[in-house]
Amino acid sequence: MEIGSIGIVGAGQMGNGIAHVCALAGYDVVLTDVSEDALAAALNLVTKNLDRQVSREKIDAAERDAALARIRTTPTLIDCAKCDLIIEAATERETVKQAIFEDLVPHLAPQTILTSNTSSISITRLGSRTDRPQKFMGFHFMNPVPVMQLVELIRGIATDQETFDACKSVVDRLGKQAATAEDFPAFIVNRILMPMINEAVYVLYEGVGTIKSIDTSMRLGANHPMGPLALADFIGLDTCLAIMNVLHDGLADTKYRPCPLLVKYVEAGWLGRKTQRGFYDYRGDGDPVPTR
Ligand SMILES: NC(=O)c1ccc[n+]([C@@H]2O[C@H](COP(=O)([O-])OP(=O)(O)OC[C@H]3O[C@@H](n4cnc5c(N)ncnc54)[C@H](O)[C@@H]3O)[C@@H](O)[C@H]2O)c1
Repeated sequence: MEIGSIGIVGAGQMGNGIAHVCALAGYDVVLTDVSEDALAAALNLVTKNLDRQVSREKIDAAERDAALARIRTTPTLIDCAKCDLIIEAATERETVKQAIFEDLVPHLAPQTILTSNTSSISITRLGSRTDRPQKFMGFHFMNPVPVMQLVELIRGIATDQETFDACKSVVDRLGKQAATAEDFPAFIVNRILMPMINEAVYVLYEGVGTIKSIDTSMRLGANHPMGPLALADFIGLDTCLAIMNVLHDGLADTKYRPCPLLVKYVEAGWLGRKTQRGFYDYRGDGDPVPTR
């Protein structure tokens, strides 16, 4: 099946990046969000990031203009229902995602492929709540989308080969690399990454190291480009906690229990860069300041 248009639900950190790369690859994009502010901010950010690519001579001005012209934003969910492929990238909460699919399904064409950018929630379970589990799969981009090369493709138990092939061809056209993961909690990348981030929060919680020493240790001692706490702020602490909860519930192993300090940050609304404060405070003009 040939994909020409892509509907993206959720215009947050991930949705804006997905819109950017899809439009640049020549797809018509309908980007939707319940928040008009999120839509305006997303379009601003896509414009800024495309401008940066022009100034670095990665694309030319005509490509930027053409990409922007291909993105339509709308607060009305069903405006994206006529697209060939839907990528849901709303908040990491199962009830939110289920409600989106329930609202969309009656308006979809029979051949439309439904996907979720979820970091951890069962694709099989999400798909089983729709009318098309065979045309449902996980389409998991990494953050920041325009920079990161990987897309994890996750088949649910019922996903058919045609759906997988159509999604794989989109990944190819985006110029990204696909890795296939089975549908178990948090798939591959987050199954490995999140317990490490959670452990870094435990190391902080138990006073083994400060925020600075933990991040410096992993950058210089393990050659990670970013420390685990800076990375957690980048991902969003609410998303990190949601993934740990999915691992804990789904695998029923205490090694996945979320650190109470991570829970406390989320309860405070200190969610990382997107709220200007997490393990670091980003509100000043200078370098981010550790919050503990
Ligand atoms: N942040 C990451 O590093 C990362 C990486 C890969 C995948 N993901 C996944 O991508 C998804 C989105 O994450 P994010 O970091 O962009 O979150 P975010 O909080 O930045 O954005 C979520 C957006 O969804 C919108 N939204 C909420 N309910 C909605 C609804 N009913 N209809 C339409 N829009 C709705 C919100 O208004 C918000 O703009 C999650 O499933 C997350 O697990 C995140």
